[in-house]
Amino acid sequence: MAAPTKIILDLDTGIDDAMCLTYVLGSPEVELIGVTGVFGNVQVEQGVRNARAILALYRQNHIPVIAGASRPEQGSGPYEVEEIVEFIHGHNGIGNIDIPDASEPATTDAKDAADFLIQAYHRFGQDLIIVPTGPETNIAEAMRRDKDFAHGARIVLMGGAVTIPGNVRPWSEANIFGDPDAANYLLRTAPQITMVGLDATQQVRLTKEDTARWRGNPKGDFLADAVDYYIDAHDRTAPGLNGCYLHDPLATAIAIDPSLGRYVPLNLKVDTDGPTRGRTIADETRLSKTPKTCHVTVGVDKERFLAELMSRILRVVGS
Ligand code: BDR
Ligand code: CA
Repeated sequence: MAAPTKIILDLDTGIDDAMCLTYVLGSPEVELIGVTGVFGNVQVEQGVRNARAILALYRQNHIPVIAGASRPEQGSGPYEVEEIVEFIHGHNGIGNIDIPDASEPATTDAKDAADFLIQAYHRFGQDLIIVPTGPETNIAEAMRRDKDFAHGARIVLMGGAVTIPGNVRPWSEANIFGDPDAANYLLRTAPQITMVGLDATQQVRLTKEDTARWRGNPKGDFLADAVDYYIDAHDRTAPGLNGCYLHDPLATAIAIDPSLGRYVPLNLKVDTDGPTRGRTIADETRLSKTPKTCHVTVGVDKERFLAELMSRILRVVGS
C-alpha cells in the first residue's frame, strides 16, 4: 500500500472542526502530521486547547497543535468572537462540553503556525494537503513568507459562498468574513485551490439520530454531545433543518477524496471593502485567464459522503 498522504488541518476548533479532526483520524489514506490553530469560532488559545484536548481524548497526543494568528491581518485591538458565533459553538467552542486539558501535548521546533506549514511543505511538497477550516490568516502569512509555499502548496479550504447567500452577513461566509484580506490574497495568489463553501456544505446535514450511533464511551459521548449542541443551535439559525450542516467535515472529505464533489473552475477574489466585505466572487481582472486557479465545489455526492462520515467517525469513537 502507498504511504498515506500527509495532511495538516488549520482549525478554529469549533464543533464542526472537531468533527473534521475526527474524520481525518478515521481516514487511513492520510496521516495527520499536525494541527495549526487560528482565531475564529473562539480565541486562538481556546481553539488550540480544544484541539489538544480532543487529540488527548482520542489518545493521539503525539500530533502537535501549533498556535497561529490571534486576529485578522488588518485587525487592530483584540479579536472578539461575535455573539452569534458563540451561540453556535458555545462559549468554549465545543458546545460547553467539559473534557480535560491535554496533559502532555506534543511539541515541535516550529516557531508558529505559518512556520510549521512552510517546513512541512518543504519536506513533503505535493504529498501534503492543507485544509484550512477557519479564517485564512495563517495560510496567507505562510504564503507571504515563502514564495515556494505560495505557488506550490495544495490547499482545500472550507469557506465562501459563490452561488448562495452568506451565513454571517448577507454576502459573506464566516471564515472568509473573519479575514477577507487574507482570503483575497490567498485566492488571487495560489495557483491550485479547492474551495468548499456553503454552496456545497449546506447541501448535507447530520441529525441527532446519526449522532446517537456514536454514543457508548467517553469519545463518542463527547462528540455526540457537542454535535447535538450544534444541532440545537441550528434550530435558530436554520429553522426547519432538523439537523446541522457539515461545513468542515465536507472540506476534509473532499480533500481526501475529490470524487465526492462537483466543481466549477473560476478565478476568484474576495471583496475587502464596503457592504459586501467578505463576499467571494469571480475576479473580473482575470475572467478569461486560464488555467483557473480555484475549483469551487457546487455539488456533492450526499449519500456517499454521509456513509463515509459515519464509518470514519465510528472508526475513531466507536470503541
Ligand atoms: C464555518 O464557520 C465556522 O463557524 C465553522 O467552523 C465553519 O468553519 C462555516 O461558515
Ligand atoms: Ca471552522
